[in-house]
Amino acid sequence: MKLPFPSLAILVFLLVLMCFESLPHVKAQLSSNKEAKALDVILQQYAYKALVNPKTGTIYNATQLPSNLTGIKVSSLRLRSGSLRRKGFHMYNEFDIPKGLIVSPYVERLVLVYQNLDNNWSNRYYPLPNYTYLAPILGLLAYDGSNLSATNLSELDVDASGDTILVKFQDVKSPPHGTVAKCVWFDLQGSSNFSNVKKGNTCSTSQQGHFSIVVKSTVSPAIPSQEGEKKKSKKVWIIVGSVVGGLVLLVVVLFLILCVKKYKHKKKMQSMERAADVGETLQMASIGDTKAPAATVTRTQPTLEHEYAP
Ligand SMILES: *[C@@H]1O[C@H](CO)[C@@H](O)[C@H](O)[C@H]1NC(C)=O
Ligand SMILES: *[C@@H]1O[C@H](CO)[C@@H](O)[C@H](O)[C@H]1NC(C)=O
Ligand SMILES: *[C@@H]1O[C@H](CO)[C@@H](O)[C@H](O)[C@H]1NC(C)=O
Ligand SMILES: *[C@@H]1O[C@H](CO)[C@@H](O)[C@H](O)[C@H]1NC(C)=O
Ligand SMILES: *[C@@H]1O[C@H](CO)[C@@H](O)[C@H](O)[C@H]1NC(C)=O
Ligand SMILES: *[C@@H]1O[C@H](CO)[C@@H](O)[C@H](O)[C@H]1NC(C)=O
Ligand SMILES: *[C@@H]1O[C@H](CO)[C@@H](O)[C@H](O)[C@H]1NC(C)=O
Repeated sequence: MKLPFPSLAILVFLLVLMCFESLPHVKAQLSSNKEAKALDVILQQYAYKALVNPKTGTIYNATQLPSNLTGIKVSSLRLRSGSLRRKGFHMYNEFDIPKGLIVSPYVERLVLVYQNLDNNWSNRYYPLPNYTYLAPILGLLAYDGSNLSATNLSELDVDASGDTILVKFQDVKSPPHGTVAKCVWFDLQGSSNFSNVKKGNTCSTSQQGHFSIVVKSTVSPAIPSQEGEKKKSKKVWIIVGSVVGGLVLLVVVLFLILCVKKYKHKKKMQSMERAADVGETLQMASIGDTKAPAATVTRTQPTLEHEYAP
């Protein structure tokens, strides 16, 4: 009876601790990707609104973005997937799309949505700890172009079978001395991957997503303080988790002690009742259940005698 309770309490305590330690980290990661995905959904709507009786192969810029998204630029380009595959599209803003691009599942027409998150919004939606953006985040996403009123579309799969798509960034800040600029690509799940910059301003990719040029931050004041705050908040969470875990442990232990006491008390009461019925002493009762049948046998005998008596 005594062994499983402490280990159970420790297990509960560890689970609570683990829960509290992992929660803030997971939440932070998910929330930033969720925000970026939500922005993709909004920008797809504005991009499609710009396509009024669109000409195939013409770039349309979205004009009426809401004021809380000022600075973001969105364009849309509607193409036949067959023609995109055969010819590519030479310079969709900063994107140079080669021939051989395969879109799946097959659609007759697709819309390529272009996003430019400006320097202001890049960090907000695509935070990259320990790196500084030297260029705005540019996005290229492919959607089914059959229904221009459709919202909340999911992206098509894009794969450059031949040459890679080139992203030629326009105003790249020069990296600080002794640092090397890198291309960064965020896939649709928000995972980042790095590659080398070509010709000072060009990145290449075989897939859609969001792109920029970054450099590892030397001790810049903004990012370390953010990191520090994150660490601080993590520490706070661990402390809160430990306190709550401790309290839960205390409650569990108290509860178990109460249970055990109640159980013992009940057992004692039962034994006492039995003992009272049988007319035995308390010392006999404490020996336990095994004595009880013997006692009842001894008790029935006098009753029998009593009945025979008259
Ligand atoms: C459309 O937007 C792109 C990039 O944001 C810009 O380079 C281009 O000049 C714009 N075109 C028009 C017609 O405003
Ligand atoms: C912009 O404001 C609208 C309401 O005017 C709101 O619904 C939307 O969530 C806001 N978007 C962002 C990215 O803050
Ligand atoms: C960046 O955003 C801030 C507020 O969020 C705004 O005051 C500022 O004008 C913006 N800068 C640019 C270049 O859009
Ligand atoms: C950022 O840099 C600091 C110090 O160099 C390091 O401790 C931390 O793990 C880095 N963060 C990420 C997300 O790489
Ligand atoms: C296009 O999408 C809109 C919004 O989802 C829907 O109401 C409409 O029926 C669709 N039209 C066609 C032809 O599928
Ligand atoms: C958008 O679509 C996703 C699944 O593709 C769904 O989970 C989400 O609820 C939808 N959002 C809206 C606003 O319809
Ligand atoms: C990410 O980059 C590494 C090397 O930089 C590469 O080996 C890997 O295949 C890339 N991942 C994807 C999904 O492209």
